[in-house]
Amino acid sequence: MQGIKVVGSINMDIIMSSARLPETGETIKADKYYMYPGGKGANQAVSVARTGVKPQLIGKIGNDYFAEMITNYLRKENLDLCLTYGDKTGIAMINVESSGKNMITVYPGSNGNMSYDDFHNIELKNSIVMFQQEIPLKTIRDFISSNRENGNLFITDPSPFSEDNYILENSGILTPNETEAQLIAGCAINSIEDAEKASTLISGKYKNNVIIKLGSRGSISNFEGEIKYHKPYNVKTVDTTGAGDCFNGAFASEFLRTGDVDKSMEFANIAAALSTTGYGAFPSFPYRNQIISIMEDE
Ligand code: RIB
Repeated sequence: MQGIKVVGSINMDIIMSSARLPETGETIKADKYYMYPGGKGANQAVSVARTGVKPQLIGKIGNDYFAEMITNYLRKENLDLCLTYGDKTGIAMINVESSGKNMITVYPGSNGNMSYDDFHNIELKNSIVMFQQEIPLKTIRDFISSNRENGNLFITDPSPFSEDNYILENSGILTPNETEAQLIAGCAINSIEDAEKASTLISGKYKNNVIIKLGSRGSISNFEGEIKYHKPYNVKTVDTTGAGDCFNGAFASEFLRTGDVDKSMEFANIAAALSTTGYGAFPSFPYRNQIISIMEDE
């Protein structure tokens, strides 16, 4: 593999922090408010960049005020931006409570009509190609079908959840979180052993390698049938937004560098944990040297 390409969504995240999340029909006061770029695609690309590999981000934003702000942020990261422009930029309204739990509503905007035909000049060859599911599933299928003979490794994060057989069976690595893993495997996950079993069911169903992200409980890898539990790195969590995206980006960059699954899992667990210690998605993502110094001390 020669590099990393991230195909996915770009949003403006509007984040309200309050003591607890509102109930249906209730209005509560927020104690803090932030506006940062996010979107699962942009988040994963920034995570790759901060952990030491310059990725290409392939996405679609609007032609509005948010697009300008987002582009200014993204230009400060070590990214190769390959963007097309639609009408409105995607927006995510994020409520975060003091325990770090969140609720997100996403308006897809231009992400919702991003198509493979928007990107005639893109060549996906011998690369790790990362997908999430905030762009149309057909677009992901088209990216895969046009590039599956080119020596790429597709890593798919099935989030927001949708079980598209073509995408899942053509992805070399699937990275569901606990909820998504339960839905794909068709079994409940109440323990680490359950998660290990779910990883076997998923890899049996789609004939691929599986990573299950369990948040503050760590993660499971199931590569070539070898199942391993990877313990979490414990931190004081403020906001979990984007932690799964941070995990994926960090895993991909370390895996590209080393090809070592265990090392990449440890690296990604630490990256994701550190990302929860600040507000917002990628503003709180760590850099490679922070993660390495923790690994050396462990
Ligand atoms: O995964 C976190 C992301 O989900 C946020 O940045 C938000 O934009 C939503 O897409």
